[in-house]
Amino acid sequence: MIRESRAAVMYDFNAPLIVETLRLKDPRPDQIVVRVVASGICHTDLSVVRAALPYPPPVVLGHEGAGIVEEVGKAVTHLRPGDHVVLSSIPHCGRCAYCRAGHAHLCDSGLQAAMSGQQVAFEKGGADIAHFCGLGSFATRTLVDACAAVKIDDDIPLNRACLIGCGVITGVGAAINTARIQPGETVAVFGCGGVGVNVIQGATIAGAARILAVDVVDKKLEWAKQFGATEVLNVRGLTGDSASDEIRAKFGDMGVDVAFECIGSPDVIRQAFLSTRRGGKAVIVGVAPFGVEVALPACMLPLEERSLVGSLYGSAFMPRDVPRLLDLYRRGKLKLDELVSREIRLDEVNAGLEALESGGVLRSVIVFE
Ligand code: APR
Ligand code: ZN
Repeated sequence: MIRESRAAVMYDFNAPLIVETLRLKDPRPDQIVVRVVASGICHTDLSVVRAALPYPPPVVLGHEGAGIVEEVGKAVTHLRPGDHVVLSSIPHCGRCAYCRAGHAHLCDSGLQAAMSGQQVAFEKGGADIAHFCGLGSFATRTLVDACAAVKIDDDIPLNRACLIGCGVITGVGAAINTARIQPGETVAVFGCGGVGVNVIQGATIAGAARILAVDVVDKKLEWAKQFGATEVLNVRGLTGDSASDEIRAKFGDMGVDVAFECIGSPDVIRQAFLSTRRGGKAVIVGVAPFGVEVALPACMLPLEERSLVGSLYGSAFMPRDVPRLLDLYRRGKLKLDELVSREIRLDEVNAGLEALESGGVLRSVIVFE
C-alpha cells in the first residue's frame, strides 16, 4: 500500500523548507499512521533550521502536532483508527529504567533517540527522510511510535490541542512538575515567547503570588500579562548583571523564589540564577546552542543554597498531564486560544518560521485541510 504525505522538508541548514509530496514508510507493528490536523511552529524547529541544534538533514520538521489516527500496527492495543491524538514530542517506551522510575520524559527512546536523525518515516526517490522528534508534524500524514500518541476527547479542537504537545507542556510542566511552585511564591520568567507565557500560566495555576515577566520586546510583555504576569520588565539595553540587580530590588532586595529561563542564552541563565533569593531556584527551560557554557558565582550554590535545575519537556508524564491540561482548558483555566497568533497553511511554513524569529508571533499554527 502506498501512503503519500505532503510535508515540509529541511534539506539544508539556513535554507527554506521545501514543501513536497513524500512517501510514508510502512508502519512497524508498534507504530501508527496519523493524519495531522494541526501543528504549531516552535522555536526548536527554528533552532534546527539555524543549525543551533545540529540535527542532520534531510528531515521533516514539526513536533507540536495533533491529528486523527488512520492506521495502527498489529501490536498497538490502546489506539484505533479515528482516535483523536496529541503527539508527544518525547515518547516514552514504558519499559526502560527511566520510565520504570517514573521519569518518562527522560525515556531511552526519548530525546536522545529523537535527536539522532536515525528515525526515518518518509522517503523520496528511494532516499530516506527522518522525522524530527520522531514526529515530523509539518506533514499531512506521518508515522509515529504508538507510545508518542495520547488519545484525547473528540470535542477538543485539534488546532488548539496540538500546542499541548510541546510549548504548553514544556512551560506549564516546568512550573508545576519541575519547579512545583507553591501558592504564594514569587516567580520571574525570562523570555515570554510560546514557552515563557506557558510558564507564566502554569505559575498562575499553581497559585504564585507575584509573577514578573521579563523580555526585550514590549508586545511579548503585553501578552505575558494576558497569561497572568502581575508585573513586567523590559531588559533591552541592560548590560552586565543590572537586570538581576533590578529584579532583586523589586523583591525586597532578596530576589524571587523561582526564576525560569525560557530563551536558551548563557547570559540570561546567569541573570535568572542571580535573580533568585537565598535558597531559591533557577529553572532552565531554554535550550542553548550546543557547546555553549555558563558562568556563575559557584560559591552561591552552597553558601546561599541556590540551585540551578534543568527542565526537559515540563518533566511530563503525558498520559497523566494531557487530560489534566485539557480539563483545565475546558474549564477556562488554561489558555490555548490566546496562544495562537496566526493559523497558516503548510506552504506558508517558511513565513511562519520567520515570524517566530522576528518576534511577531507567539505561535503560528499550521492547519491542514
Ligand atoms: N532577555 C529577555 N528576553 C529575551 C532575550 C533576552 N536577552 N532574548 C530573547 N528574548 C525573548 C524573545 O523576545 C522572545 O519573546 O525570548 C522569547 C523567546 O521566545 P520564542 O522565540 O517564542 O521561543 P519559545 O518557543 O518560547 O522557546 C524558547 O525554549 O524550548 C526551548 O528551544 C526552545 O530554547 C527555546 C526556548
Ligand atoms: Zn517545541
